[in-house]
Amino acid sequence: MTQPSALTVPASLALMESHPIPEDWRHHHLLGLEHLTASEITLILDYAEALHRATENGRKKLDLLKGRTIANLFFENSTRTRNSFSLAAKRLGADTVEFSSSGSSVAKGETFIDTAKTIEAMLVDAVVVRHSSPGTPQMLSKHLACSVINAGDGPHEHPTQGLLDILTIRQHRGSLAGLTVAMVGDIAHSRTARSNIWGLLKLGAKVIVCGPATLVSKNWEKLGVEVSYSLDKILPRCDVLNLLRIQFERQAIRPFPSVHEYTLLYAMNQERIKKSKDDILIMAPGPINRGVELTPEVADGPHSVILEQVTNGIAIRMATLWLLLGRRLDAR
Ligand code: NCD
Repeated sequence: MTQPSALTVPASLALMESHPIPEDWRHHHLLGLEHLTASEITLILDYAEALHRATENGRKKLDLLKGRTIANLFFENSTRTRNSFSLAAKRLGADTVEFSSSGSSVAKGETFIDTAKTIEAMLVDAVVVRHSSPGTPQMLSKHLACSVINAGDGPHEHPTQGLLDILTIRQHRGSLAGLTVAMVGDIAHSRTARSNIWGLLKLGAKVIVCGPATLVSKNWEKLGVEVSYSLDKILPRCDVLNLLRIQFERQAIRPFPSVHEYTLLYAMNQERIKKSKDDILIMAPGPINRGVELTPEVADGPHSVILEQVTNGIAIRMATLWLLLGRRLDAR
């Protein structure tokens, strides 16, 4: 049998096992979406859907990555991303190591690189890293031989979040091309915003970043996005709203006078839903703060796809792990 020549997903699980990874896929790490091409992004989305089907919506465990070990290295809090990577690894038959900075030797003065090398010496095949310093995964990728996956580096990138957001939109709309997607809220501190912007623009969507001027610089226009300070003005044009949490923990000074004022101007509520397109999609990477970036009726309402995003996260992370590790099953 011949190998698939381009970036396409094999038609069945059996073919996936015998033709591990498309020849043209060239990545050993997933550090961000900035440097992926549109076809590479599409390939990950296609693999995510294929693997989701192959695991029968999460009910069946595959053994595609049996014998592989994935380490979660989280130096920041996480509910969704960490558990999602763990489940994704397990659904592909891999083992997982869970590392948290609290309770580890980091608290005894060990350097970050020494800690990471120690985990790698336990013969792990990939480390999934979340850290408050931008560039941490890039730095790790230079020191470790195993694959490095960025699970959020400060305000820089969160590629699997961008991918799962984009997959959720594609499932509802078929294609990203020509859609208008607004990221609303704390753009300045959001790695989700950056990864979404790179991915959405490459797939042909129009992107608007919207929020208070203290959290949305005019400089974002240089990336090819529209900058707006008025949710009410852009609302009628939007196909998708991605509502970002205000990341108070990353801010030295409060970026607006009060949460109440923010909510009046930027929270998605029932009145604003009425002024939106009939089929608007309401998304949020989570954690959501009910009553701040959106009201409970909107979070739980018919336009919300927030929990679908969570489900899609596992599929995206399975696809990521398979694409990075599937070709090297005999490499260790
Ligand atoms: C985000 C994060 O940590 O980057 N959440 C997530 O991963 N689902 C966004 C946030 O913390 O607000």
